[in-house]
Amino acid sequence: MKKIKTYILKLNVNGEWKKAEINPLETLLHVLREKLGHNEVKEGCGKGDCGACAVLLNGKPVNACLTLAFQANGLNVVTLKGIGTPDRPHPLQESFVKKGAIQCGFCTAGMITAAKALLDENPKPSRDEIKRAISGNLCRCTGYKKIVEAIEEAAKKIRNIKSEARNPK
Ligand code: FES
Ligand code: FES
Repeated sequence: MKKIKTYILKLNVNGEWKKAEINPLETLLHVLREKLGHNEVKEGCGKGDCGACAVLLNGKPVNACLTLAFQANGLNVVTLKGIGTPDRPHPLQESFVKKGAIQCGFCTAGMITAAKALLDENPKPSRDEIKRAISGNLCRCTGYKKIVEAIEEAAKKIRNIKSEARNPK
């Protein structure tokens, strides 16, 4: 049987350059989870329907299950852990917890990633804009209402933090 040629992939994950040996058909999701240990990136449907595997690729949300790893070569990837950690949570993570927008938690990494991409571009989104931004992310548990409210609350908090930084007391 013919051996598949492999390549060395170099990508920046959450601010750190990483390398992995990949074959040309491997997905970014597989490399992140199985080769680089980023289990915070979830595998749901594996075919672009659920958004559980969303990461930021050079700041834009992508489904890692539909992205070939080589497409990320030389680029910046941000996963949920790069958005915030238990010690330094992002306002979105705080709001999701506070509002009860997490139940089983399987969709949460993808939801927060999609919301982060939205708030980076649009700090004051309307409810419809929030719903549109998370329309590719499925949640089986929460009914979405609390997720939308959590994103609204986080947006407000981020605007306040930025305004205080501009006008210190
Ligand atoms: S696992 Fe990627 S979209 Fe569902
Ligand atoms: S909290 Fe369970 S799928 Fe969203």
